[in-house]
Amino acid sequence: MSDRLRVGVVGLGYWGPNLARNFAQLPDSELVWCCDSDDERQARFAAQFPDTRMTGRFDDLIEDETLDAVVVATPVPTHHALARRALLAGKHVFVEKPLAWTVAEARELEALAAERSRIVMVGHLLRFHPAVVKLRELIESGELGDVLYVYGNRQNLGVIREDENALWSLGVHDISVVLYLLGGRPVEVSARGECYLRPGVEDVVFGYLKLASGQVGHLHLSWLDPHKMRKMTVVGSKRMAVFDDMEADRKVTVYDKGPVLTAPGKISTHTGDITSPAVSREEPLRIECQAFLDAVRSGDPGHPANAAEGVAVVEVLEAMQRSLEQGGAPVTLEGVRA
Ligand SMILES: NC(=O)c1ccc[n+]([C@@H]2O[C@H](COP(=O)([O-])OP(=O)(O)OC[C@H]3O[C@@H](n4cnc5c(N)ncnc54)[C@H](O)[C@@H]3O)[C@@H](O)[C@H]2O)c1
Repeated sequence: MSDRLRVGVVGLGYWGPNLARNFAQLPDSELVWCCDSDDERQARFAAQFPDTRMTGRFDDLIEDETLDAVVVATPVPTHHALARRALLAGKHVFVEKPLAWTVAEARELEALAAERSRIVMVGHLLRFHPAVVKLRELIESGELGDVLYVYGNRQNLGVIREDENALWSLGVHDISVVLYLLGGRPVEVSARGECYLRPGVEDVVFGYLKLASGQVGHLHLSWLDPHKMRKMTVVGSKRMAVFDDMEADRKVTVYDKGPVLTAPGKISTHTGDITSPAVSREEPLRIECQAFLDAVRSGDPGHPANAAEGVAVVEVLEAMQRSLEQGGAPVTLEGVRA
């Protein structure tokens, strides 16, 4: 391995160029290849990445023995096949979210990474957002008391998808954040949704996750809503905290509010200060890309957003999808690893 990790990005659509830009800019990596099956996409980015070789053949990346890592930023149904081929060729792999289309595919990638001692990281971007990390610090420090429940709002008007429903399109990030904040996996989930615009594609989904600890997560996912909301609220027994990604400066707010036992059987409420802790302004995507490079260098399979985390999120997505199809019936997750 040379000083700088040699990285190739496959997929130069909407999101891939953001990953390519970061791997081209970070001092620990060198963007050696960009691959897209569309010639026009290659031509568009050739000028932006003049030191990078452009190709339409994924095999060029696989066959390059000097390439350390492959970044997969193609549509979800292609994740498993491309990541699998990269792992079999001995490359470390960063896969955009979700890790794969099915739990079986995600587990196969996890097993392959372990077998080949390669890093597989999934692009659970919000898990690297300094505000989400701050929420986790607040939880771990005990400042919020016992965390009772967490809920996410991801609503807007559009983008209206034809192929994926609101759960798969919008829910991945929120599920990864709920699991990260609560530090466990749900034993039971349910989801209800409605298809207002296209038959069979839910525009609005309400999801519910319950952990063995009794803690609960709730998600409101919609592209048919007047509000643009990107919010995660943590309700603790002592205090409550909110991450609002639509706020420019005050990303995290802590509310010193909560229930107070005034006499046996008598519960009142307390309202104190509202504060906003400092949160780094560093680009979450840059932090995420650096975390991947660090994981490759350290070889630590316990790195953030590892394959096991990717599998956990796909397990929740698949179980919630089953619940959606059964009109919101609770679905138990088998053999959940605490
Ligand atoms: N982290 C985030 O916030 C975020 C945001 C948007 C998208 N994403 C993820 O990024 C991935 C890509 O999404 P997108 O919106 O950029 O998709 P997109 O459709 O805009 O782009 C996909 C690109 O991949 C290329 N492609 C497809 N199959 C290929 C193959 N086999 N070989 C080479 N090139 C191939 C296509 O030509 C296209 O240019 C998805 O996994 C998506 O979930 C993540």
